[in-house]
Parts: sequence; C-alpha cells; structure tokens
Amino acid sequence: MKEIVCLAIESSCDETAAAVVRDGRIVESNVIVSQIDIHKKYGGVVPEIASRQHTESINLVVEEALKQANRTFDDIDIIGVTAGPGLIGALLVGVSAAKGLAYALKKPLVPVHHIKGHIFANFIEDKSLEPPFLCMVVSGGHTHLIKVKSYSEFEILGKTMDDAIGEAFDKVARTVGLGYPGGPLVDQAAQEGQDVCHFPRPVFENLNFSFSGIKTAVINYVHKTPEFNINDVCRSFEEAVTDVVITNIKRGMKQAGMNKIALAGGVAANRMLREKLKNFCEKNGYQFYYPAPVLCTDNAAMIGCAAYYDYLDGKTADLSLNATANLSIEKDL
Ligand SMILES: Nc1ncnc2c1ncn2[C@@H]1O[C@H](COP(=O)(O)OP(=O)(O)OP(=O)(O)O)[C@@H](O)[C@H]1O
Ligand SMILES: [Mg+2]
Repeated sequence: MKEIVCLAIESSCDETAAAVVRDGRIVESNVIVSQIDIHKKYGGVVPEIASRQHTESINLVVEEALKQANRTFDDIDIIGVTAGPGLIGALLVGVSAAKGLAYALKKPLVPVHHIKGHIFANFIEDKSLEPPFLCMVVSGGHTHLIKVKSYSEFEILGKTMDDAIGEAFDKVARTVGLGYPGGPLVDQAAQEGQDVCHFPRPVFENLNFSFSGIKTAVINYVHKTPEFNINDVCRSFEEAVTDVVITNIKRGMKQAGMNKIALAGGVAANRMLREKLKNFCEKNGYQFYYPAPVLCTDNAAMIGCAAYYDYLDGKTADLSLNATANLSIEKDL
C-alpha cells in the first residue's frame, strides 16, 4: 500500500504546533511553539492573546515542520487538524490554516478530536500497541477514564465532576506560590517533600473523579499554617490525587476486563503517577503504556496519528468545517 504522509496542525490552547507523520506512527517532524512565557505573567492562558499568537506563528511552524521532515507540500497526502475541543479563537486559527492548505493543495482535510490525539500519542510511542485498552486521560482540561474499543470507538467509564487534574495541579502551584504552569513545578517540589498533610482521597460508587475537595483542603491548610513547607504540601497533594487516579484505574480495569492501560495528556508526564501506575501494573500483570513527555503535552504529532486512522475510516471534512469548543469523544467526529 502507498504510504500516507500527513501534515498535522494543533492550536487548541497555548501551543502552536505542526508535524509531518507518515502512516500514523512514524513522526518525521514535530514542531511546537509554546506561548507559556507570554501567558505566565497573567497566571494562566488569556484566550485573546493565544489566538493572536497562533496567527503569528502558524505559517512558521508549518514551514518548519516541512523543512525538518525534508518534505515539500507536494509530498503531503492529507491535512489533519484539531477541530475541538479547546479555546474557540485558538482552534479557529488552526482550522482556517488547514482549510486553506487543503483547498490550495487539493488534499483531503481530516478534523481531529484533541483528546483522541492525546490518547493516540501512545501509538506513536509504542508501535505494537493496538486497541482494546483502557486510557487514563489526565490533561489541563480533562480527566477521563476511557475504554478505547477500537481506533474509532470510545466509551467514557468515568470523568471529573469538577476540576480537571491539570487544573488542580496549576491551582495548587499558585496557592503555594510556585509559577505557571504549575504541574512540572509541583512534580519537582514533591520529590523533596513528605506526605505529612494527609489530604482527602474522594472515591465514589461510580468511576467519576473530584479534585475540588482536595484543592480546597490544600488552600485551607496553607491559610491555617503560616510556616507551611512547600515541598511537603506538593508531596501530600500529589500522593492524594495519584491515589485517587490509581484507585479508579484499578476498579476500571476489573470492570472493563482489560489488561492494558495507557496514560495520556500533560499530567501523564508526572513522575509519581507514572511510578505508582508502573508498580500497580507490575503487581497485577498488566501492560502499561505512556508517551514521552513531549508527546504528553499538546503537540501536532499526536494529531497526525489520529488523522491517519480517521482518514482510513473515511472521516474527512469539506471546507465548511468549523472549530467547536465542546466536542464529545463518544459521539462527535
Ligand atoms: N510533570 C507534570 N506533573 C503534573 N502536571 C503536569 C506535568 N507536566 C505538565 N503538567 C500539566 O499538564 C497540563 C497541560 O497538559 P495538556 O497540554 O495536555 O493540557 P491542555 O491541552 O491545556 O488541556 P486539554 O488537552 O484537556 O485541552 C497543565 O495543567 C500542566 O500543569
Ligand atoms: Mg491538550
């Protein structure tokens, strides 16, 4: 079969990214321009600024992705793009660029669900991984325990009822006075701390998650303890949230009758979460998959992987494609 070369674009939040991916799993280039330094001074992503920055960077990242892959537009077979969920103004920049390219090059346009992209980062990391498996999506905006039934069928077994786990990491970092984005800084501080605060570990009858109670417990502890130790607070918070995630994965694996578990999304880079899940899988004879850190946070290589499988499934769009801020992974796309 002829190889399929995908030019993929991602602009759902604060990373402008383009990649060239061959046959879904071979990454020829993966270019990411992060806006973190710009949003840092506001303590979070400012949507209007994000859109403007995407507009400035989009053509450059596409050019650079082609250059690094040693490709020209003539080599491209399909254009993949994140169509949602995400910040609407940010998504629109990527979708408009992809539509322009698909029209000019007369190539198929493949809209991709951003969370599907995060999950599919695992296919790039491990070329032998095939569905079905369970995937724990832990990102800045999502905390979903998903049964990946095939390359196109997904069932959400549990999800957060309030904050996403990445959001909780970022808020805890702000509470203890660390910078933005907080996840990697909390990860670092926790390495030096002890679990002395004993924050709550809420678990429900179903497989849903809640992180707002843990976050409030951290805020209350910090307010009541003038001489609090940042490392201990970060360690105690990490122990609590990772215990909750592992507990639900354990129950989800049994319920779904699965023996493979993958991590996806920015928080999948967290060292304690990886370590605890690795130990749990070793004890239970489960196979554990996780992407390299650069494939955990937003990137276009994962979008190129998902676009390839969606294209094989006939899921192309015409030039009326629009960006959508909220999209269900079970029903949409
Ligand atoms: N080592 C780490 N430990 C914990 N959290 C981390 C780590 N590295 C990154 N994060 C967190 O990951 C999040 C960013 O991940 P990602 O890029 O997947 O989210 P997003 O794209 O903003 O959200 P979504 O994918 O749900 O739309 C941030 O909340 C960040 O703090
Ligand atoms: Mg993301």
